[in-house]
Amino acid sequence: GPSWTRERTLVAVKPDGVQRRLVGDVIQRFERRGFTLVGMKMLQAPESVLAEHYQDLRRKPFYPALIRYMSSGPMVAMVWEGYNVVRASRAMIGHTDSAEAAPGTIRGDFSVHISRNVIHASDSVEGAQREIQLWFQSSELVSWADGGQHSSIHSA
Ligand code: PPS
Repeated sequence: GPSWTRERTLVAVKPDGVQRRLVGDVIQRFERRGFTLVGMKMLQAPESVLAEHYQDLRRKPFYPALIRYMSSGPMVAMVWEGYNVVRASRAMIGHTDSAEAAPGTIRGDFSVHISRNVIHASDSVEGAQREIQLWFQSSELVSWADGGQHSSIHSA
């Protein structure tokens, strides 16, 4: 299929989201939107991987608290594929600061504070490639045999 069908992004339900049983709701939102799940795992994130994931933030005052929070319990990492999935995912999760997140977005529906904002999604195509490689082996990602023919964009 055309190359745009293969845009991929990393989405992670953070430990607060897992603990609050929000994984199913998150998956349902991405499935209903028409995106294709190509990888998923639940894990207690090693601090070394978190340090690499958040490498640009290591001088921020909130960095130690962020690493503590992200390693405090299991998270669910997913790779979603589809047309403009990076940009669409950011819109679906809402503003980083939950207080600014619009109702209807994941953070706008489920979070009140930036330090417990339920979910992460890559902020650029390049960032997504880096993060997917960090969290997943290529053997852990699938290629759908139908090339995503089930998604609504294809039947339009
Ligand atoms: S910054 O300062 O502009 O680079 O930060 P920002 O892009 O807003 O956020 C980057 C990630 O840091 C998380 N963050 C926080 N975590 C815990 N506590 C506080 N106070 C805090 N502020 C920002 C924010 O959720 C972003 O993480 P991800 O996983 O990308 O959502």
